[in-house]
Amino acid sequence: MATLEDPIEIGGVTVPNRLYRAPLLECAGNGPGAVDTLIDDLEPAAESGVGLVCQGATIVRGDGGCAAPGMTRVHDPDFVARLSRLTDRIHDHGSRIFVQLEHGGLRSMETWHAEYRRENPDIEQLAVSTPPWQLRLLDRLGFLKYDPHVLSTDEVYDLAADFGRAAASAVAAGYDGIHLAGANMGIVQQFLSPFYNRREDEFGGSPEARLEFLAVVHDEIRDRAGDVPLLTKVPAETPAPPSPIVRRKLSLDDGVGIACRLEKIGYDAVVPVRTSVVWDMSIVRGEYPRRAWENERLREEYDAAFGSPVRRRLVSLANRIQSLQYDFEPAWNADFCRRVRDRVSIPVLAEGGIRERAQMDRLLGTDDGDCDGGAADAACDMVGLARPFYAEPRLGARLLKGESAEVDARGRDGTNPSVLCESCNNCTVPQVTGAPGICRTPDVLRERGELERKGAYDRSES
Ligand SMILES: Cc1cc2nc3c(=O)[nH]c(=O)nc-3n(C[C@H](O)[C@H](O)[C@H](O)COP(=O)(O)O)c2cc1C
Ligand code: SF4
Repeated sequence: MATLEDPIEIGGVTVPNRLYRAPLLECAGNGPGAVDTLIDDLEPAAESGVGLVCQGATIVRGDGGCAAPGMTRVHDPDFVARLSRLTDRIHDHGSRIFVQLEHGGLRSMETWHAEYRRENPDIEQLAVSTPPWQLRLLDRLGFLKYDPHVLSTDEVYDLAADFGRAAASAVAAGYDGIHLAGANMGIVQQFLSPFYNRREDEFGGSPEARLEFLAVVHDEIRDRAGDVPLLTKVPAETPAPPSPIVRRKLSLDDGVGIACRLEKIGYDAVVPVRTSVVWDMSIVRGEYPRRAWENERLREEYDAAFGSPVRRRLVSLANRIQSLQYDFEPAWNADFCRRVRDRVSIPVLAEGGIRERAQMDRLLGTDDGDCDGGAADAACDMVGLARPFYAEPRLGARLLKGESAEVDARGRDGTNPSVLCESCNNCTVPQVTGAPGICRTPDVLRERGELERKGAYDRSES
């Protein structure tokens, strides 16, 4: 029976408690200010007592592969070495930091970002297989643009080696673990998913073969970076459109099977996530971000990203429809996590719509004295939050016992602190322009200011 404050071991590394900041795009890039931006974004979580900070997706190659503008690349060991300033700052607070490795493949920004494509006309997207007909149709209709380069077998091994090289540089820079972006429609998911993967070599043709890329990435990381903790998101593509639009996709059973096989391969933890096969709001369930779309200052940049005002309006409409389809659901991955946890003995990390302390205790199976199951009912071993850290960068202090002042966000007595974030998604859309990941909802920022004045984010000890 675990509490949020209890330590946990992941791959031989002790994380001081079970609260983590889930990966979020920082849009820090690789320029002269990149390390400072990352410190500004990530240190407050550690300072507030969060046990594990997961840096957002970073790209293992020097060109292509970014899902959005401004993503940090980690192919250059000299650049990665400079990130030791970040890892030192996180360690100063007693927290751990994992970096997430990624390549976008067919979900790279050159497929959707009109201005970027104009400036980089020759970039091809790495593809596991020829894009499925649904994506080719969107290309023909002019919504997306694909110039796929289907990886040869040797090139797949080369790409896996790049994950290994990036992991080795990260470990040398002081990162405590490696996280793979396995469930945000990037290339790892594209290998796992029968929607994308039609290969006939050792990397396709059966569920086991579709996992082979993650097996080779595991071996590359172990060979080059040693026994560093290694975890990955694990997808179940249940929110994907129904058959006949999408016939081949990963079910919940498939996701559970993938997690079991990853444990056998040697992965140290898994993060089960329900996600679609294309980029949509299924991983960021919540409201239609009206305020973000109506932002006058960003309108021109949206037009540049989507290609014209008409296209901007179409994307906004699609966003509105998706917000109805993928309505907010508290702890929406809990059932998937519980099913995985019943079958594996490595830690299971849960994220997605987790918003209050009592809910975290229930997910962890913390015994509340009511004899209703406790640990046996646990869905996970750690709980993670993402958008709430944009809203309250020092949120840990309010959620972890013994750290915070005696008030919760809504002015109650602090027995069940809940986050300020309203899952309104005003922070998500501006990132298509490379804008920084910050909360953009004035009421929420005002409430945060009030809590700051009341000392709610001050830690009693550090
Ligand atoms: C703006 C934004 C950027 C994100 N970037 C990443 C990322 O880089 N890697 C990743 O695995 N997930 C990413 N996610 C997904 C989050 O890690 C998380 O799973 C999701 O936001 C649900 O958690 P929440 O309801 O606590 O926000 C991102 C989410 C948002 C809103
Ligand atoms: S804009 Fe603020 S309140 Fe809205 S989802 Fe983002 S962090 Fe949460």
